[in-house]
Amino acid sequence: MKQVGFVGWRGMVGSVLMQRMREEEDFSLIDPVFFTTSQKGGTGPEIGKETPPLKDAFDLDQLSAMDIIISCQGGDYTNQVFKQLRQSGWQGYWIDAASALRMEKDAVIILDPVNKPVIEQALHDGVKNYIGGNCTVSLMLMAVGGLFEKGMVEWMSAMTYQAASGAGAKNMRELLQQMGEAHRVAKDLLNDPASSILEIDREVAGTLRDKKFPTENFGVPLAGSLIPWIDKEVANGQSREEWKGQAETNKILGSSDQQIPVDGICVRVGAMRCHSQALTIKLKQDVPLDEIEEIIAQSNDWVQVVPNEREATTSRLTPTAVTGSLSIPVGRLRKLAMGKEYLSVFTVGDQLLWGAAEPLRRMLRILIQ
Ligand code: HSE
Repeated sequence: MKQVGFVGWRGMVGSVLMQRMREEEDFSLIDPVFFTTSQKGGTGPEIGKETPPLKDAFDLDQLSAMDIIISCQGGDYTNQVFKQLRQSGWQGYWIDAASALRMEKDAVIILDPVNKPVIEQALHDGVKNYIGGNCTVSLMLMAVGGLFEKGMVEWMSAMTYQAASGAGAKNMRELLQQMGEAHRVAKDLLNDPASSILEIDREVAGTLRDKKFPTENFGVPLAGSLIPWIDKEVANGQSREEWKGQAETNKILGSSDQQIPVDGICVRVGAMRCHSQALTIKLKQDVPLDEIEEIIAQSNDWVQVVPNEREATTSRLTPTAVTGSLSIPVGRLRKLAMGKEYLSVFTVGDQLLWGAAEPLRRMLRILIQ
């Protein structure tokens, strides 16, 4: 059995990975070795079988003994360890959730339901680095990858509604603290049926703008508001999250030499762990809506076309409906007023599953099959 080292298994993405691997009984197919950056000699996670004491995640000799390493530890760790490990001559497979190596020439972005041929070609060519994609891009391609695969997309604009989890576990906590605080200041007025809604609103706006409102992690209020900027600026007023849309989509599809334009505005909203996206797709030609629905529905086992009706949409096409599941609902499908080649789409996906842990788990399966 292959020796597989895990780094960063205790964090949010790592914990979801552990949960999925237990559910799918992946641990029975490998010899897992757990690494730590802080608790060497400690005990690994409960996985239904004995594992050796935790090893030091900075010990190159121990890491070098692995056939495969999966890191959910983050980009700083990757930047600190990966190069040295390769320079020491290690030839194993490196699977990483962080973005540090994503755009490197000798790395493939993994999303096998969408780019299995790209992954297989890379394995054949001896590529050893397999990196999970940006969550928004992965979720978008899980939803409408079928249209890209058929070469139907001239360009796409993605307007995103991204969950707190994409910013980290602390941010999820802070969102709830903010919600609680907004409720706290309005509670008495809310309980009084005779109170004025404008007075309630004044109280809430007052606390959102109060210097003491908990914003340590987001920097600004998210509850009762939104944040129309994610990550740093790249250039020309485009954020890094927006830049990834085109760069990573084309890398995943293996079309980096003939880029399909993808751009839009990435926005943080007060959802917990599901990213939503409103897509405008310019098709190369007018294709009937039922054919489009068929292509999307057939593209993978997780996508579900939701009829463009109010009841189905509001009950099935929401973060609340999707959270904690692998399903990728795709709805609001219709041609826009701009012309028959302009398609509107809305999609939702769990940022921690298809957006982070699941592609890594599936890459491991590909390597050990
Ligand atoms: N950058 C994403 C976000 C998370 O902030 O939502 C992971 O790709």
